[in-house]
Amino acid sequence: MSNVDNSGNSSAADGAARPSETRDTTVGSPSRRTGRVLVTGATSGIGKAVVGRFLAGGWRVLATGRNATALDALRSACPDRVDTYEADLSTTEGVGALLRRVVPAHDRLDTLVNAAGVIANDTVAGFTPEAFHRMIALNVTAPALLTQGLLPLLEAATGCVVNVSSVTGTRAFPGLFSYCVSKAALDQATRCAALELAPRKIRVNAVNPGVVVTELHRRGGMSDDAYAAFLEKAKTTHPLGRPGDADEVAEAVWFLGTPAASWITGVTLAVDGGRAETCLR
Ligand SMILES: NC(=O)c1ccc[n+]([C@@H]2O[C@H](COP(=O)([O-])OP(=O)(O)OC[C@H]3O[C@@H](n4cnc5c(N)ncnc54)[C@H](OP(=O)(O)O)[C@@H]3O)[C@@H](O)[C@H]2O)c1
Repeated sequence: MSNVDNSGNSSAADGAARPSETRDTTVGSPSRRTGRVLVTGATSGIGKAVVGRFLAGGWRVLATGRNATALDALRSACPDRVDTYEADLSTTEGVGALLRRVVPAHDRLDTLVNAAGVIANDTVAGFTPEAFHRMIALNVTAPALLTQGLLPLLEAATGCVVNVSSVTGTRAFPGLFSYCVSKAALDQATRCAALELAPRKIRVNAVNPGVVVTELHRRGGMSDDAYAAFLEKAKTTHPLGRPGDADEVAEAVWFLGTPAASWITGVTLAVDGGRAETCLR
């Protein structure tokens, strides 16, 4: 793995400040301050869109996921600015193995994006502790452990963390017991970490998407027919009249993950077509 910066096709038209433009000039020289982001869940959906957005902004991307073929495709598309790390983050051993590869290979990290996640249907009446723990392990424990393990690199860059939470973190939905609990925990982890790490100049925020068209729900057991009906219904459950696109979430992650959001920390930002504002009637 190389840790040499290569800012490549950085474009002035993309609208957001680069790390080199940050107001905090105490860390690194401008020539060293090319952005570097680690993205979990980089192989699919929102995480993959985040990779594309940061590459478009000229950043170097450390991409992780389990799907080796998808990781190879990311690296092949931009070999000089993408490093890939195959990792299963559902266990502490898997997170530790990733950290043991990433930390020694990099002297700093501007942004950590925790996008890997799973969904499943369950209820408080019927959930199993095993399934609950599996959900918490990937959706909550992994982001927390990665934040912890990457603190030295984040601090060296005056960096930040963006967690990909959900509208289910701020609102309750029936039939998604473990998932809602995991995202609410991730929201609170975001706020706690933001307060704790503010003195170290590390920002921590989250985005909370509504329904976004990705593989998430089908991987969570929804049939193709049920998913089509779910997306149709999303036109009525989201005030803006449609489900979201992964690129729309990636744009919000890009904002929070760059110095454009240099005075924002502890925020859980709804990116949901207004869904969190609705209530049953
Ligand atoms: N889609 C939505 O409607 C929606 C709404 C709100 C929030 N979200 C959140 O957005 C995030 C991304 O989901 P998505 O919609 O983009 O779903 P997706 O297309 O299914 O992508 C999920 C990603 O998580 C990774 N992942 C799953 N299990 C993993 C494991 N054990 N170890 C490491 N990586 C693992 C997958 O990588 P591999 O395939 O390589 O294993 C994949 O890259 C999730 O946290 C989800 O909760 C999604």
